[in-house]
Amino acid sequence: MSLLEVINLRVYYPITSGLLSKRIGEVKAVDGVCFKIMDGESLGLVGESGCGKTTIAKAIVKLEKPTGGRVIYRGRDINSLSKNEEREYRKEVQMIFQDPHASLDPRMTVGDAVEEPLIIHGVRDPEERRRRVEELFDAVGLEREHMRRYPHEFSGGQKQRIGIARALAVKPRLIIADEPVSALDISVQAQVLNLFMKLQKSFNLSYLFIAHNLSVIRNTCDRVVVMYLGKVMEMTDTEEIFRNPLHPYTRMLLEAIPIPDPQRRKKRTFPPAIPRRVIKGCRFWAQCSEASDRCRTEEPEMIEVGAGHYVACFKV
Ligand SMILES: Nc1ncnc2c1ncn2[C@@H]1O[C@H](COP(=O)(O)OP(=O)(O)OP(=O)(O)O)[C@@H](O)[C@H]1O
Ligand code: SF4
Ligand SMILES: [Mg+2]
Repeated sequence: MSLLEVINLRVYYPITSGLLSKRIGEVKAVDGVCFKIMDGESLGLVGESGCGKTTIAKAIVKLEKPTGGRVIYRGRDINSLSKNEEREYRKEVQMIFQDPHASLDPRMTVGDAVEEPLIIHGVRDPEERRRRVEELFDAVGLEREHMRRYPHEFSGGQKQRIGIARALAVKPRLIIADEPVSALDISVQAQVLNLFMKLQKSFNLSYLFIAHNLSVIRNTCDRVVVMYLGKVMEMTDTEEIFRNPLHPYTRMLLEAIPIPDPQRRKKRTFPPAIPRRVIKGCRFWAQCSEASDRCRTEEPEMIEVGAGHYVACFKV
């Protein structure tokens, strides 16, 4: 059984105008997305800015109410949980944000910040809490002596480690990491990614790992979901996406992976994205070099083209 399943998820935001905020349309931020995360799996969710990645994460952790579709966690719809189940769900599914600085309270010592979720979730014994916080500091590679310091005394990478320790405090099963390294220096990104991998084994975690760049998920994820303008374009094993990318958008994302050679870099050109409100047909047609007349009027369905390899494109 899958740990988490997203079924035909839709999140539309209203577009309003004028003093009375009249509704003149809607942004289909997420428009019929389906995927599963298996127990112990690390799933990458990749796509350019604005394609709906954070909106999906928010719908999963119930920060955003879906317009339609369902999220199933361990066989139960997350919208029909009892109070106790809801509390359990909020413990088991934790989110880590892109900006480690903004997610920490500047007036709270980092030790207190890691202890806070333990208090919220009812660990009453202060001794036990202190012991758990120390263990968490060890697990994420921070010095125990730093527990009494404040967030501004830490580097970006260290702050992200504190954010990870905070998420781990309540023993989650699934961590949703929304671009957890994109605010960090390139030199520390690999260290934090390695930490995620190490913790996955030692804490038996599953991940939904959000990134706008395929290189970040290459060594961290088992499978990848590639999104474009609120829809899934391709979904398969990470190895397969690098070996045999089938969707033109996935191929464009692969070309966008930074190349050290400036000569090769110069040759790349990306056509402009189309505005969201003029979508008709395949969402990618205005940027696609393989688009035909059909692509401009009809939307391709997602089909399975090989074992566990799904693509939404007429040309595949
Ligand atoms: N609260 C909101 N009200 C209206 N529109 C919103 C709201 N939140 C997001 N959107 C729109 O929904 C779309 C998807 O946004 P989302 O934040 O999910 O994208 P993203 O893939 O996470 O992008 P990024 O890589 O920049 O973080 C965007 O067009 C965004 O402008
Ligand atoms: S359906 Fe057409 S426009 Fe869309 S990605 Fe495939 S070839 Fe390109
Ligand atoms: Mg985002």
